[in-house]
Amino acid sequence: MSLPQIPSSLPQQYDYFQQIELSQEIRDLISTLPAEEGLISGHLHQYQGFWYPTMRIPRILATQKHFQAHDTDILLATTPKSGTTWLKAILFALVKRVHYHPHPQNIDHPLLTNNSHPLVPFLENKQQSGENQIPDANSYAPPRLFSTHLPLAHLPQSVKDSACKVVYLCRNPKDIVVSLWHFTNRVRHKSLETNSLEKVFQYFCRGMNGYGPFWDHVLGYWKESLERPETVFFVKYEEMKEKPGLHLRRLAEFLGCPFSPEEEAQGVVDNVLKLCSFETLSNLDVNKNGRLSTGVENSVYFRQGKAGDWKNYLTAEMVEQLDRITEEKLQGSGLKF
Ligand code: A3P
Repeated sequence: MSLPQIPSSLPQQYDYFQQIELSQEIRDLISTLPAEEGLISGHLHQYQGFWYPTMRIPRILATQKHFQAHDTDILLATTPKSGTTWLKAILFALVKRVHYHPHPQNIDHPLLTNNSHPLVPFLENKQQSGENQIPDANSYAPPRLFSTHLPLAHLPQSVKDSACKVVYLCRNPKDIVVSLWHFTNRVRHKSLETNSLEKVFQYFCRGMNGYGPFWDHVLGYWKESLERPETVFFVKYEEMKEKPGLHLRRLAEFLGCPFSPEEEAQGVVDNVLKLCSFETLSNLDVNKNGRLSTGVENSVYFRQGKAGDWKNYLTAEMVEQLDRITEEKLQGSGLKF
């Protein structure tokens, strides 16, 4: 199979310079960074080893500079397409269960009328209020819940200095590639050519997808979870799928909000899992017809919700190539997919 060649450099003029107001300092920085075509739109720039959508870089720098973590904060870290939407829902339902009972009869639960993304905001998303603002989660009673796609090395220093708990969710890279391929084609502008699976696969293997390389991202959090297990909780999408009750209870323990014997007897664990299941969330009106403030349709975050769908898409050659890269990159770490 011949795979498409990716250009090693791009012209110096980038659309985004016209689209957003950037300080001269940030323009100067971005103009020095390696650039590639993005899989959705615009470009990616490689900043300190990781590929970021260019539009996000100012916001990431602002987040690193201004975000003040609280010791009670909870931060969900993922690479895109690892199941972020799902774990955001689980974290919200779990941690806020005293305020919002995850009972099937509770029709007022926020997850029934909101996509989980605004309930657990990304640290590094561009806010409408301006570059230097952090997501306003002060309206939340502690703990505040945030999410991020930033690699460990790029988290704000205040997160590293605080007792803030980090939950890291990762997923088999073969399923991520397939999920990413579908996702990019759903959100790409209709005027742009559809991405082929080969193209997305090749970009992913080269680490040139948003927040990639995948393996460096995962390894950073994996190593930290081994060194500081009281601070970083590491879990795989596949494990959550296989034994959701076990890992939800582990997560609750880790976050200091274990299920009480009364809650166990009342079936609260099952209620959280049912509320956050693919079947429940993907069939809600808000997730079928709603949109995020960015204009992205909520439905693009729900496709199959299964482990192992890669078997239906990847060729034997692709599987061999991706497995080989994963084995090489994770060698000696104790982490396997
Ligand atoms: P698939 O495309 O394989 O179906 P992210 O939220 O990080 O963008 O990841 C999206 C992936 O998570 C998609 O995978 C999506 O279907 C899956 N997903 C979304 N909600 C889920 C849920 N409640 N349970 C399991 N998987 C879910």
